[in-house]
Amino acid sequence: MSLRVGVLVSGSGTNLQAILDAATSVYEVAIVMSNKPDAFALKRAEAAGLKTLVLLPADFSTREAFDDAVADALEAERVALVCLAGYMRILSAGFVKRFENRILNIHPSLLPAFVGGHAVRDVLEWGARVTGSTVHIVDDELDHGPIVLQEAVDVFPDDTEETLHERIKAVEHRLYPAAIRLFGEGRIRVEGRRVTILPDAG
Ligand code: GRF
Repeated sequence: MSLRVGVLVSGSGTNLQAILDAATSVYEVAIVMSNKPDAFALKRAEAAGLKTLVLLPADFSTREAFDDAVADALEAERVALVCLAGYMRILSAGFVKRFENRILNIHPSLLPAFVGGHAVRDVLEWGARVTGSTVHIVDDELDHGPIVLQEAVDVFPDDTEETLHERIKAVEHRLYPAAIRLFGEGRIRVEGRRVTILPDAG
């Protein structure tokens, strides 16, 4: 049975597109949810014939109430894995608990370096020579949970935020579907901070 994935987005959705393009019998995207009604990612989801849902944080009295509604919608679709793909919100502890060890995020740096919402800009400002992309399991702290996959990307002297982010995204578009496939194949074992990738049984 294929893994039912829920993807949370806020923006352009190139990672969502890569996840959709790489889908095999191992996983399927059951629902795409956004907190931004104008996210281009929603257009990509619609073009792929997927179910979409927009929930607006302003319609809820607290962050917890909003996150509960998101979690309810994901559970109604029998989602087994939640993938954050450019989702620009910090999840509440209650949400993380409901999907414990079943939430993945992709972050455009080599964590734990350069956490936060401007990682690519921060790398350039810092003058780092190497950065990259990280797929990690989401825990209670921002950009913090156990690392599943990680790949380095060189920073070039003439890089702008756009050119560097573009090269990082090219890596992300391979890494994220690969991590989801591993999850779907049951090959990710988490012990504390350490993630073991189990060998391919087939
Ligand atoms: C990606 O770089 C991802 O690492 C970060 O947000 C960006 C989302 O891009 N969390 P997209 O919406 O998938 O194009």
